[in-house]
Amino acid sequence: MADQVRAGGRGPYPLQGRVAVVSGGSSGIGAATVTRLAEAGASVWIGYNLGQDRAAALAAKLPGTGHRALHLPMRDTAGIVAAAATVASVHGHVDILVNSAATTRAIPHGDLDALDDAIFDEILLTNVRGPFATIRAFRKLLAESGDAVIVNISSLSATTGMGSSIAYCASKAALDTMGLSLARVLGPDIRVVGVAPAAVATDFVPGRGRDAVEKQAASTPLRTVTEADDVALAVMAAIVNLRQTTGSTLVVDGGRHL
Ligand SMILES: NC(=O)c1ccc[n+]([C@@H]2O[C@H](COP(=O)([O-])OP(=O)(O)OC[C@H]3O[C@@H](n4cnc5c(N)ncnc54)[C@H](OP(=O)(O)O)[C@@H]3O)[C@@H](O)[C@H]2O)c1
Repeated sequence: MADQVRAGGRGPYPLQGRVAVVSGGSSGIGAATVTRLAEAGASVWIGYNLGQDRAAALAAKLPGTGHRALHLPMRDTAGIVAAAATVASVHGHVDILVNSAATTRAIPHGDLDALDDAIFDEILLTNVRGPFATIRAFRKLLAESGDAVIVNISSLSATTGMGSSIAYCASKAALDTMGLSLARVLGPDIRVVGVAPAAVATDFVPGRGRDAVEKQAASTPLRTVTEADDVALAVMAAIVNLRQTTGSTLVVDGGRHL
């Protein structure tokens, strides 16, 4: 039994030469994470759905080499499988998978009729089945790494039930719970960590401007707007330093939950 146990104390996770895939990588938190990973020496596949031009432009301006745009559509499993095959044809393994892609609608929670089945399905498919299908498609490549990490971008709304729509809150709770199950079965070669921000200054919520994010920040203990890069730094912490963490979700909200 003892010979099946690995020694810890390995120090920070080295990023130089690592292969990373980031869904929703062309904008917001995904793009900030892509940039941090590239600056640290990783080669990054920038997942996109509609943002092909944005992804290509980001790949072209990143430091280092081997960065590419990758069509990674959350609601099209065949497309996700094709993306994994594309990465496999170049690298044969993946060290880091960041699931940042997601969608939402701004729907008042009391207006149950406005949250119809089509919107509910779209949010759940994109935010839950999509990341699961991505992990399933990339599992073999991640296992080939021997020391891989998956970071799921969740949300404080998973635990508070407050957020842009009821379906969105439910989708992030499902993502977190899925992370618990996956962390159990994917170890020891793959860690699974969640990062849960709240009210980040991106264009994620339709109709929500920076003024609304600033107003929300004003009522938090840190009274500081959470920028996309603040979340990217938390993702980096999970990848680089939280080597003994799996099946946990880190809250990155300026203390908004208090
Ligand atoms: N901003 C916040 O206040 C906040 C708070 C808590 C959690 N989060 C989470 O943070 C993550 C990133 O959001 P963000 O704030 O960075 O907003 P964002 O800039 O709007 O990023 C969302 C990304 O998701 C991608 N996406 C949407 N639908 C997709 C689909 N069907 N298939 C593949 N990709 C799809 C988009 O890609 P394309 O543009 O290529 O279509 C886009 O790059 C999300 O998981 C979100 O739930 C955000």
